[in-house]
Amino acid sequence: MNLADNLEDLRARFEDALKNSAGASSLDAVRVAFLGRSGEVTAVRRSIGKLPPAERPAAGQRINEAVEQMERALNEAQANAQALEVGASLSQRIDVTFPSIKPQQGSIHPMKRVMHDVCAYFERHGFAVVVGPEIEPDYYNFDALNIPPDHPAREGFDSFFLTPNLLLRPHTSPMQIRTMQQHRPPVAVVVPGTCYRRDAVDARHLFQFNQCEGLLIDEGVHMGHLKGMLTGMCREIFGSEQQVRFRPSYFPFTEPSAEVDTTCPLCRGAGGECRMCGGSGWIELGGAGMVHPNVLRNVEYDPDVYSGWAFGFGVERMALVRYDVDDIRRFFENDHAFLEQLA
Ligand code: DAH
Repeated sequence: MNLADNLEDLRARFEDALKNSAGASSLDAVRVAFLGRSGEVTAVRRSIGKLPPAERPAAGQRINEAVEQMERALNEAQANAQALEVGASLSQRIDVTFPSIKPQQGSIHPMKRVMHDVCAYFERHGFAVVVGPEIEPDYYNFDALNIPPDHPAREGFDSFFLTPNLLLRPHTSPMQIRTMQQHRPPVAVVVPGTCYRRDAVDARHLFQFNQCEGLLIDEGVHMGHLKGMLTGMCREIFGSEQQVRFRPSYFPFTEPSAEVDTTCPLCRGAGGECRMCGGSGWIELGGAGMVHPNVLRNVEYDPDVYSGWAFGFGVERMALVRYDVDDIRRFFENDHAFLEQLA
């Protein structure tokens, strides 16, 4: 074989070897076999010595050209093989069946959820949700609500005074006055909000707590409307079996007045040894009644034309009943395990 045929044959075998090699390591083997120090190209180079001296430079150049082409092809094949291997190793690391890490998600606090649900119930019945200041003068907390300065009922509110005339509101009832001052009847509002009293903290009391107040004023409103609305609310918040009981009571701003109880969620009204209701079968939610004519007069509503009802319920108390929790402090300890159970 002459040199040209030799090179042709070499190139054909090189291309075959390249085609048949899979992966970077077998390409290395091809490089060694053809271009390595004791590879096939070297053998062809040696054969130059047998040529007449005049032909040697041209023969050397042809070999060099062939070697350059082979090297280019090898480098290209090697780059391709590497890219494939990297791609394969990356796709192995992404296991789409592997369980993902769930993002931490918060939830609405049980107290807020009750507050929201109470408001939603009344909104559906045409009430507006209004909120008011937590710092109120005497007038809104007491005087306008028919509790004059020397009235013994003021004692019951055990308030935090900021100045002789300003206090942290001990109930949401001041918003009854503010609402009626701003609007002519008919009026239908629900007032969620935080209240403060100088109470010693125990399983049933906090010095900072929340109430939901309700107020409806129109012509011809009577106690039956109050009873129907509060019974409906309790059934929605606590379940369809829920009973509501009105116990005669006294508040200066309502006449007649009642304290409102609902079936104990734990014993379902059976009483006995029940730890939640102490055996009565009932849990007290708050106060209610028909708005006192003096209160209507204080906001220049004519009590001969208008009448209305009001109520004020403790939100934490409702949450205790709804979630069957026996200590009000549990809601505010920020114990995740506890709060997650109720979420
Ligand atoms: N404000 C009263 C309290 O905190 C509760 C209350 C009783 C509110 C009767 C009312 C009501 O609106 O009519 O003890």
